[in-house]
Amino acid sequence: MRLGLGTGSTARHFVDLLGARVAEGLQVLCVPTSEATAAQARSLAIPLTDLDATPQLDLTVDGADEIGPRLSLIKGGGGALLREKIVADASERMIVIADQSKLVPRLGHFPLPIEVNIFGLGATRRRLEAVLAENAAEGRLEQRLRSDGTPFVTDGGHYILDALFGRISEPEALSAALLEIPGVVQHGLFLDLCRRAYVAGPDGVSIVDA
Ligand code: A5P
Repeated sequence: MRLGLGTGSTARHFVDLLGARVAEGLQVLCVPTSEATAAQARSLAIPLTDLDATPQLDLTVDGADEIGPRLSLIKGGGGALLREKIVADASERMIVIADQSKLVPRLGHFPLPIEVNIFGLGATRRRLEAVLAENAAEGRLEQRLRSDGTPFVTDGGHYILDALFGRISEPEALSAALLEIPGVVQHGLFLDLCRRAYVAGPDGVSIVDA
């Protein structure tokens, strides 16, 4: 199979388990969604490719920060949302693996990561604040920082602004409004991309289909 490899602490377990299967002879060709996942996969001798050589994938397995109605997702808590969305979109199927704390009746409690171009940050921020206000958001827009206080920079060389909405009542409209802002590279709303979630809880793993 041609597989997309997600990013984050949950996807990390999947990549470890995949590495064990590859060592036993499983044949896969994988596209990682971040430099961190690429490094992990290389350390496990998982064969890697990219979307130039392999533009279509069979399946992507990734984590999520929130799983809402019809498997709408918030992703990007680990900062890999842009590559994650490109890889998921290039895949025949995307599935999510998560624990049940990620299941929510409505998206938006988790701050929505918005990846923005470094150029024009102030102007982009101003436009985003207007979108927050229009969507009755709680109003907080925070630039993501590293632990040393310097700006977090994504694998693609962009900044991330985390927007606290509290609740997102119309994800499709919000997605469209965000993508109209020229400085917005991508956002962490994954709509109509995920087909199935494997959700772990105290009683085992349950399957949720879109
Ligand atoms: C990475 O950018 C994210 O989209 C992750 O997939 C998401 O944050 C889930 O991560 P955890 O599995 O660590 O909760």
